[in-house]
Amino acid sequence: MNKFWRDCPEISRELDIVKNIIKKSVSSSEKYFEESFLPLIEDGGKMLRPAFLLLSARFGQCNQERLYDLAASVEMVHLATLIHDDIIDNSKLRRGCESIQSKYGKEYAVYAGDFLFCKCFSMLSQHDYKTENLRDISRAINRICMGEIKQYHFRYTRKVNLRRYIKIISGKTAALFALSFIAGAKEGNCDEELVKLLGRIGYNIGMAFQCIDDLLDYVGNENELGKSAQSDLKQGYYTLPIIFALEEDKDKELSNILDKSTFNDGDIKKIVSLVKKYNGIEKSMKVAERYTKKAFENIDNLPKCESQYIIKSVVEKLLNRTF
Ligand code: IPE
Ligand code: IPE
Ligand code: MG
Ligand code: MG
Repeated sequence: MNKFWRDCPEISRELDIVKNIIKKSVSSSEKYFEESFLPLIEDGGKMLRPAFLLLSARFGQCNQERLYDLAASVEMVHLATLIHDDIIDNSKLRRGCESIQSKYGKEYAVYAGDFLFCKCFSMLSQHDYKTENLRDISRAINRICMGEIKQYHFRYTRKVNLRRYIKIISGKTAALFALSFIAGAKEGNCDEELVKLLGRIGYNIGMAFQCIDDLLDYVGNENELGKSAQSDLKQGYYTLPIIFALEEDKDKELSNILDKSTFNDGDIKKIVSLVKKYNGIEKSMKVAERYTKKAFENIDNLPKCESQYIIKSVVEKLLNRTF
């Protein structure tokens, strides 16, 4: 049973099916390779994207077997991006376990991520999915890459303003949330208006989700998050909390530290405390609340059903999360 979805036993049961499809899909005669994925698949992941895909499909009707494979494909794309993201971010911890890059090395993790991307498309090729769905998935992966590249390009620079930040996270995170809703709705044969509405919900949820992920990187703890905290700063990613704090940094206290090319532990502590003092966390939370409000407005326009109710309660839970 998935911990995050324990209040929705039906979704939790379906996510177990999706998880088993993923496990089967990474099975290999090279047992050591297969086993290296297991902690990632088995533990700790919220499985938000496949769950949203399943919930979105419930607004229409479809073949469940195809749907589960589609949900597995979306989660595999997510897993592949996490494996590669951990290489780039030098992260030791993922989903409460040692990351693949830390345990097996960066070279190994590059192949592991590539393997999952490939498995996603071979899974999709097993069914006659609409070309449109395949095109949507490729586009989402393209957006994730562009978002990550942009973030990398602007590391350690103060050129990341609010506008650029929004662009970065809409690519690296919101695109896959939007896709999950859209792919589910299309597979459920929902009409065009409903597909668009569900896509907007996914986008707004994804935006709020990354704003909160970024503020949790400042105020969260490793145990709860299941991944390293204060990692963005160490990598030179100036996310929303810093962007807002700099607006109130009249004495240039924060700017002066950020001008350094590397940060020691003392610098990190100081930056975190200045970001808090200059309201970086509160203001970031306000942005997350604004996107969540937009998501709620969209959700209210959905046909009234259990799925609508579940999506609404999950969005609330995500806003108040500490993990
Ligand atoms: C992590 O996503 C990557 C971000 C977009 C911040 P999740 O927080 O959904 O990761 P898992 O799937 O629960 O591990
Ligand atoms: C999300 O950004 C990256 C992906 C799109 C995979 P983060 O770098 O903030 O994700 P975490 O915090 O490592 O999970
Ligand atoms: Mg990361
Ligand atoms: Mg993060």
